[in-house]
Amino acid sequence: MTSPAELPFAAQSDSPASHPSAQPSARPVLLLTRRLPEAVEARASRDYRAVLNPEDRAFSGAEIAARAAEVGADAVLCCAGDRLDSAAIAALPQRVRVLATFSVGTDHIDLEAARARGLTVSNTPDVLTDATADIALLLLLGAARRASEGERMIRANAWTGWTPTQLMGTHVGGKRLGIVGMGRIGQAVAARARAFGMTIHYSNRRRLTPDLELGATYHADPEAMLPECDVLSLHFPATAETRHWLNAERIGRLPPGAILINTARGSVVDDEAVIAALKTGRLASAGLDVFENEPNLHPGYRDLPNAFLLPHLGSATVETRNAMGFKALDNIDAVMAGRPAPDRVV
Ligand code: DGY
Repeated sequence: MTSPAELPFAAQSDSPASHPSAQPSARPVLLLTRRLPEAVEARASRDYRAVLNPEDRAFSGAEIAARAAEVGADAVLCCAGDRLDSAAIAALPQRVRVLATFSVGTDHIDLEAARARGLTVSNTPDVLTDATADIALLLLLGAARRASEGERMIRANAWTGWTPTQLMGTHVGGKRLGIVGMGRIGQAVAARARAFGMTIHYSNRRRLTPDLELGATYHADPEAMLPECDVLSLHFPATAETRHWLNAERIGRLPPGAILINTARGSVVDDEAVIAALKTGRLASAGLDVFENEPNLHPGYRDLPNAFLLPHLGSATVETRNAMGFKALDNIDAVMAGRPAPDRVV
């Protein structure tokens, strides 16, 4: 017999003894693919027969579908790292009515396959806007002011003391920040950057209204904006069309010594081109929170002193992760109650 420790997911007991106030047979089964913040798991377990993943093992799409079948899931709460491609979506049992992702990004889910199968997919917009914009500013300042070089110097016991020329970076005040994708997060980044005295340029499918644009310069064509960007920050979704959008040719249109910030998705930049530009100084530095093929990022980044690297921390605050989990559960609650998911993507 499989011991509980060997089970990849921990099924919640539905006995009245463990949930005295619950109506056991009425509660749908909810599969959580990863470990989630305590408050989120507590609510999931209160309202559903929640199948948790206390070991936080990462499962393939096929494994998630198999587990959903095994536990009789009515709903699945998945996360950004879960690759739910068309085969995994097709393998999900028909009984699963909603796939709520604990992320704003949906590039890990084959939305067309979900649509074809009549599966509701929801995401978690809005609640992570501020946290992600904060990380973009952390990257911007860290990359411009050579923060990780300084930190490494101290940790390596290599700091011999203050000198007038040590680790001189770039002043961000008075510089031009170009934002590609001026949605919620792009606008929140602009608001923060203005407070640092930066001038905002942006490119977006649609021009914002003046009350949202707040004096930023609009470029209908992102190509035309690139020469105006001392700092370029990317805030658009990863799709087949945007894969490797920032390539060698577009880097070549930036002013020499520009700074790149990416909190969107790793696949929107061509790593080879970015690494080559960081090596030659064509890009002065880059602040990156996301990578293609996470967590197996291009090894070339690790040796670059001018790459300020974070492990996909954009939304990683307790408040934000709780809010994301509650939002995902709100969406599942709605579908289970026969209402449309408030954050329905498909
Ligand atoms: C998202 O929400 O898409 C983030 O990248 C993960 O928090």
